[in-house]
Amino acid sequence: MQVIRLASETDFAGWRAAARRLRRAGTPPEAVVWMVTPDEVLMDDGPLPAVPTSTGGHFAVPRDFLELAETVVCHRSPERFARLYRLLWRMASEPNLMKIVTDPEVAGLTDMAKAVSRASHKMKAFVRFRKLEGETPETYAAWFEPPHRVLERTAPFFIERFANMRFSILTPDATLLWDTRAARFGPGARASDAPADDVLEDFWRTYYASTFNPARLKVAAMTREMPRAYWRNLPEASLIPDLIASASARTAQMVEQAATQPSARARKAAAKLSRDGSFDDVPRDLEEVVAGVQICRRCDLWRDATQGVPGEGAVRAALMFVGEQPGDQEDLAGKPFVGPAGVLFNQALEKAGVPRERTYVTNAVKHFKHEPRGKRRIHQTPTAGEVRACRWWLDAERRLVRPRVIVALGATAALAVFGKPMPVAASRGQALPLPDQVQGMVTYHPSYLLRVPDEATKAQAWKAFVADLGMAWKLAG
Ligand code: URA
Repeated sequence: MQVIRLASETDFAGWRAAARRLRRAGTPPEAVVWMVTPDEVLMDDGPLPAVPTSTGGHFAVPRDFLELAETVVCHRSPERFARLYRLLWRMASEPNLMKIVTDPEVAGLTDMAKAVSRASHKMKAFVRFRKLEGETPETYAAWFEPPHRVLERTAPFFIERFANMRFSILTPDATLLWDTRAARFGPGARASDAPADDVLEDFWRTYYASTFNPARLKVAAMTREMPRAYWRNLPEASLIPDLIASASARTAQMVEQAATQPSARARKAAAKLSRDGSFDDVPRDLEEVVAGVQICRRCDLWRDATQGVPGEGAVRAALMFVGEQPGDQEDLAGKPFVGPAGVLFNQALEKAGVPRERTYVTNAVKHFKHEPRGKRRIHQTPTAGEVRACRWWLDAERRLVRPRVIVALGATAALAVFGKPMPVAASRGQALPLPDQVQGMVTYHPSYLLRVPDEATKAQAWKAFVADLGMAWKLAG
């Protein structure tokens, strides 16, 4: 019996080297015992078998087997090393074995690999960093319990996303420490080693509550995507039971909620503007903008919208924010940024210390562009032509409000504000001069934060977004 001692539970290199030698030496699977022995207690069971010269010692292993093996090694099954070697052994006489997907051994290992990939994917989605109190420079830690040993294979994702952030990820199997230059792996940890709470938690809760649409609640699908096993480490999970319980009442309320109509004053002013034929006259004040937007026919978007949504805020605000276009809820309410993106925007403003009521908030395009899908209205990005047509209103707002700083939220707003396409990620976080001594800035659109598929990127984008809003407020001050 040959006992193979591997250095760790995920020692793929060790398994591969041993498996290669065993197979070259003609050692059958039933004559091998695979064990994991950490370095410090490594014992010598004698040398691996020598390679007999008669075998020639050479064989090719298909790449897809190696990829499968590297993944399966992270599975928690104690049988994984032996099962992989059994498959490798069989490949000597069945070279096309990997292509026979109905073979029980191939199918079983493929399922194990899928479980590992799923665990890695969930880790990317559900790791939540918490700030460590009193650490300088700022350091974050996250506790996570993956169903398989996926920390090492998932680590490059976090390192790339958070290259400039010092962080550790603690799991029961291993620990990753990234100090912005090098990664170190250490032994497993306990949940109590990780910090319990911090300010980012409120963000996750607000974010989750604002994106939770009771009318679309599907408990089974939701728990499949966000399995209950992960809930205890997710700050927002504490909201789930209440949100589910109140979903039907909130849906009924949404159905009953009628669209608000433009104010009587705005309707009167609009009627007067169109009667006078003075629609193309430059608006003399923001009231005329409000009214004019309601009767605007500069593009076709008015046809499917409930109403035009003009900007709102302080008449002489030093800071102006420009979004893309009203969303579903803004279209009904007639006000900018009151839906899910607005909730997040408000929270970021608060975190950055920017009082929204002292700013002016508007959109590049004033009507909701959408297409119907069942009972839902799905947002569609406005074309460059629609942005150009609506710029007439944005220019009017700029002239009347005369802000010192204009922040474009996302790519469409940047196109409207700067008159040319701007890459958001590369342009954000800096003052970009506009004509008339106005400082321009570009940052993420709040909906981007709602859409980012993985939580890690979301947290980083959130930080950057808050920092950009704070910078804009300072510049305007
Ligand atoms: N998205 C925007 O760009 N503007 C809004 O007013 C709402 C959502």
